[in-house]
Order: sequence, then structure tokens, then C-alpha cells
Amino acid sequence: MAYNFDEVIDRRNTNSSKWDTLPGPEIGVNYPVGEVLPLWVADMDFRAAPEITEALTEKLKLGIFGYPIVPQSCFDAIVEWEEKRHGWHIEKEWILFAPGAVTTAHMAVQAYCQPGDRVIVQRPVYYPFFRTILNNGAQIANNPLKIAGDSYEIDFDDLERQAADPRATLFILCSPHNPVGRVWRRDELQKMGEICAAHGVPVLADELHCDIVMPGHRHTPFAGIGAPCRENSITAIAPSKTFNLAGLQATVVVIPNRSLRQRFENILTQNSITRLNMFAITATEAAYRHGGKWFDEALKYIHGNYEFLVRYLKENLPQVKPFRLEGTYLAWMDFRAVETDPDRLQKRMLTEARVWLDEGKIFGPEGNGFERIVIACPRSILKEALDRIAGAFR
Ligand SMILES: Cc1ncc(COP(=O)(O)O)c(C=O)c1O
Repeated sequence: MAYNFDEVIDRRNTNSSKWDTLPGPEIGVNYPVGEVLPLWVADMDFRAAPEITEALTEKLKLGIFGYPIVPQSCFDAIVEWEEKRHGWHIEKEWILFAPGAVTTAHMAVQAYCQPGDRVIVQRPVYYPFFRTILNNGAQIANNPLKIAGDSYEIDFDDLERQAADPRATLFILCSPHNPVGRVWRRDELQKMGEICAAHGVPVLADELHCDIVMPGHRHTPFAGIGAPCRENSITAIAPSKTFNLAGLQATVVVIPNRSLRQRFENILTQNSITRLNMFAITATEAAYRHGGKWFDEALKYIHGNYEFLVRYLKENLPQVKPFRLEGTYLAWMDFRAVETDPDRLQKRMLTEARVWLDEGKIFGPEGNGFERIVIACPRSILKEALDRIAGAFR
């Protein structure tokens, strides 16, 4: 392996949201930073690809940080990556930029919904989606996912009912799905797409995790399925998860339909969001152009971590059930056999295990009794976390 993903990098005192903030003050738990092992927020504990750091270093060496443009070569790098990795052809004029996927979701709600409208989500789901809806005076319409063995599936009848409500004006699709780890199959996406198109509900496809797909699975871009999906879609992709660049805040928003694109562009214009920052542009191009080899190695390591986690739980804490991980670097685990009360589970995780995970309950009540763990870290950190958890819950 050309890169050392086993290296433990001390991220404390680096202004890291993951390592330099305190968990649990809301439940009366306060620890000195460092006592609690953080595996909650979706950011990798790996150094970025050297090609990205080199490109950023060149910019730093120049020492001039005036207004940038997004060069044609950056657009080309994005388009070529999507074409090569996912077989999806994007036209340059479909592309807009935003300083984050959560910001993109906020702007989508502003662009396509009126106060009081209903935005469909599939809980348990990435919890900041809820804020994007509520912050803009819209309502959450839940199409709950159904547990099926060690995985989840979609309730299409319920989706049909939700989409048929005239107040439903947007569907936020998480694909691959955070936190349940599904990589939606083409037939599932097509069915969701047909339902939404039939009822005139645009689909915001949050595909931030599209590259992080485990062996045996394949990501299908929602907008690449066919005209009904393409013309009804807003897709968010980004180098942030794939290449661990979340702090640079670059999101690529792809909207093939002219009218949907115009409405989104109006929101960008009204807020004068007209450019990415210089480092985001530089890193985005370097990542998509030169980061593939690093990413392929990182993905293998992450998959190894998932296999390690499954084996570890089976041998040491068999009551806790991990779900099948098809995509994302977020493993979803069912703790209900060891602790049924979600508040007590949170408290025990922090005070007894001294591990900070994302509590299932924050993804919606469907997540009560579940935990999400970020496995994009050196295996020794994952092992330490699992040792602590097993020690507390065995
Ligand atoms: C599905 C999904 N969307 C969006 C985000 C956050 O994106 P951003 O930091 O660009 O707002 C995350 C981060 O974990 C995510 O998992």
C-alpha cells in the first residue's frame, strides 16, 4: 500500500470539530477533550492525497489570495471523474457551485418550497436535512425506511402517498444513504424517480457519498437513469467525503433542467453566492484529476475496517448487530439488545465507554437504540473504540 492509513495523526488543538469540541453538555456530561474518543462526525482521520496538498502548497507559495475564477480545467476534472467513475455525462452548463451540501439543501428548500410545504425525507436520515426544512418554514414529511434483516428497504406505497400530497414540493434523497449504508439499486431509484416525476416533486439527490461504495455494489447517479429523473433532479456531489476535504467547503450542484436550475440560481444570486474560495477550487481540481489512486487505497482500508468491526462485534459483543455496509464510511449498529432507552444509551456511551458516536436518535425516532460510527480512521483507533464499547456493554 503506497499510503499509510495506519498512521495515527494527533488532531487535537488543530481547531478540529471532531477532536476539539466537547460531547454531551446537553445531557450534563462534560469531559476534558481527549478523554472521549470521537468517531461521530463524518470526517476521515487520514491525511489528504499528497497531490492535493501539493496543489494547495503551490497556491500558498505564490502568496497572493485575490479573487479566483473556476477554470475550464476544473470543470473538466469534475465531468471526467463522474463519467469515468459512474458513467454519468454532465454538461458544463448544468454545474453550479455552493459552499456545502447542507447549504445546498437549504437553498433547494428556498428555491422550490413555500412556507408550510412538505419536504419528503427517509428517516432515519442525515439529521441536518431536518434543519434545512424547518429553518425555511417547511414541514418534514417522513417516508420511513423499513428494516429488512441486516439492511433497509423503501416503503414505496408510503412514498406514493407522501408525494401525492399537493403540499409536497421537494424530496431529499440521500444516495448512498447516511446512516443506514444502503447504495440504492437502479430499480429502486427508478421507482422513486417515477413516483416523484408523476407528482411533480423535484428530487434533491444528495450524492456526497457516491464514491464510497463497497465491493459488490455500484452507485447509480439518480440523474443518469433517464430523462424523467434527469429533468426532475438537483444533484449534490463533492470532493468533501471522497477526499476528506470537508473543511474546504466545495459542493458541485448539477441541475440539468433549465427551469429548476434558474430557480436555484436565483437563490444563489439573491444571496450573492457567486464563487468558491481559491483553495476549494484548487483542491477540487487536484482531487478529481489526481486523487483517484489515493482514494482507491483509502476505500480498501475502510472496507477492511468494516470487516474488522463486524468480526469484532461477533466475537466480543454479539448482541450488537451491525448493518450491511454497501456504501459510506459510516457503520450503523443496533444496540437495542443491550440498551433500549436511547437517552441512557447516549449517557452510557459517553460516560462508561467514553466514546463519542452519533446517536441513532438524532436521525429521527426510527434511530432510537442505534449508533453510527465513523470507520474512516486508523484501525488502532477503531479497535480502541470497540474495546471501550465492549468493556462498557458486554
Ligand atoms: C449525506 C450528507 N450530506 C451532506 C453532508 C455535509 O456536507 P457539507 O459539509 O458539505 O454541508 C454530509 C456529511 O456528513 C452527509 O453525510
